[in-house]
Amino acid sequence: MSKKVSINYNDQNFELDLVKGSENENGIDISSLRNSANLITLDPGFKNTGSCKSSITFLDGEKGILRYRGYSIEDLAKNANFLEVAFLLIYGELPNKSQLDKLIFDINENAIIDEDLKKILEGFPKSAHPMGILSSLTSALIAFNPEKKISLNNNNGDENDYMYNSIVKLLAKIPILIAWVHRRRKGLSLDYGDYSLGYVQNITKMMFQLPNQEYSENDIIVNAMNKLLILHADHEQNCSTSTVRIVGSSEASLFASVSAGISALWGRLHGGANQAVLEMLEAIKNDGGDTKKFMLKAKDKSDPFRLMGFGHRVYKNFDPRAKIIKVAAHEVLKDLGIDDPILDIAKSLEIEALDDPYFTSRKLYPNVDFYSGIIYKALKIPKEMFTVMFALGRLPGWIAHWREMRMNNDPIGRPRQIYTGENHRDFISLKKR
Ligand code: SDX
Repeated sequence: MSKKVSINYNDQNFELDLVKGSENENGIDISSLRNSANLITLDPGFKNTGSCKSSITFLDGEKGILRYRGYSIEDLAKNANFLEVAFLLIYGELPNKSQLDKLIFDINENAIIDEDLKKILEGFPKSAHPMGILSSLTSALIAFNPEKKISLNNNNGDENDYMYNSIVKLLAKIPILIAWVHRRRKGLSLDYGDYSLGYVQNITKMMFQLPNQEYSENDIIVNAMNKLLILHADHEQNCSTSTVRIVGSSEASLFASVSAGISALWGRLHGGANQAVLEMLEAIKNDGGDTKKFMLKAKDKSDPFRLMGFGHRVYKNFDPRAKIIKVAAHEVLKDLGIDDPILDIAKSLEIEALDDPYFTSRKLYPNVDFYSGIIYKALKIPKEMFTVMFALGRLPGWIAHWREMRMNNDPIGRPRQIYTGENHRDFISLKKR
């Protein structure tokens, strides 16, 4: 018997179910509130509203905890490879060898892109932002992979092949599209990959191999890429994942839903922040490196400048991913023999912000985007591609949430509103206006 929460309104008492999660989070189920009390709730930005029940990712913003299906982000970033984490997020368990081998085989079987898709890519101006291109190409995949009706359960109760095939197609094709976008921007011929390599190794090959040169694997780059992709793989109901879930709730396809998620991630308050962080750090460097001047701007309400890479809707403590990425940034630059003053500027900003009541009182700490761009830059990835790399990492999370939402038969998302416009009024003809 679930516990109840009472609301007293208009001298009436309304009892609502209290929902408790497996980590003892509590929520009030308000689904009956409109019918019973003719009330809705209002929560702009859904800051205190749960949109669903989910068993994929748990995070505790106060304690700085992040777990994928119960495994800590620290453990996974240290020990796992990205494809294992993708399988874990999507299917709920770390794969055994035969499951991982099958996933790799099926991905390789689908690692082809219709040549006509190349014509769409070539139709974009060179100046087009890679996130806009990626969102368009992801949606265009539907045209080359026509959708059949997804009957969620076939006779043995598992999801049908079509859902599985859509999942492996995305895991196979998105890295190729991303490598194509990157290479076209650099004026390089497209690389079709080498499927004898591991998943992340092949991504780095497709992105970085220069024409007419043997691919020489660089473990530092592969390990850094693997770690960054794992750290970005999921983050419960963030803006872009909520977008994927609500678009998918109308029974839009996985490709269409992920395309919408890519567009949501593009915004500079969300995944676009990693590009904005590097632009900010470069601006500070070019301005003479006076971090205190920019700290004052960040605190000045009349100044639109924000300390990009700082603050988070949920983390009111350190973002555990930022801690891992900060260490990795230092290691990658050292291992690659790069002395980048940008890293020193980032560290100065962090030290100053953590000692500044404006930031500490608002619990504004470095988030996942604050140091990631420093590594991407060291890997010679252009800053316009940073958010695309975030999207590549987040792909398994988006897939996992779309699948969970469909397997749970969640209802179509359709929030209510409080209307604040004009009351009824009669039409006025043009000559009287
Ligand atoms: C991601 O949700 C996720 O999980 C996202 C993500 C994921 O993995 O999917 O973690 C990835 O998007 C990380 C966040 C990347 N964005 C940035 O780094 C952009 C800079 N940060 C912010 O704009 C802001 O902190 C947000 C958008 C991240 C969170 O905003 P909230 O929760 O809506 O908080 P708010 O804007 O209401 O800010 C609260 C106060 C305000 O000041 P007061 O009105 O109290 O005086 O803090 C201030 C804000 O002005 N503030 C900042 C600030 N962030 C918040 N002031 C200066 N610089 C900042 N970065």
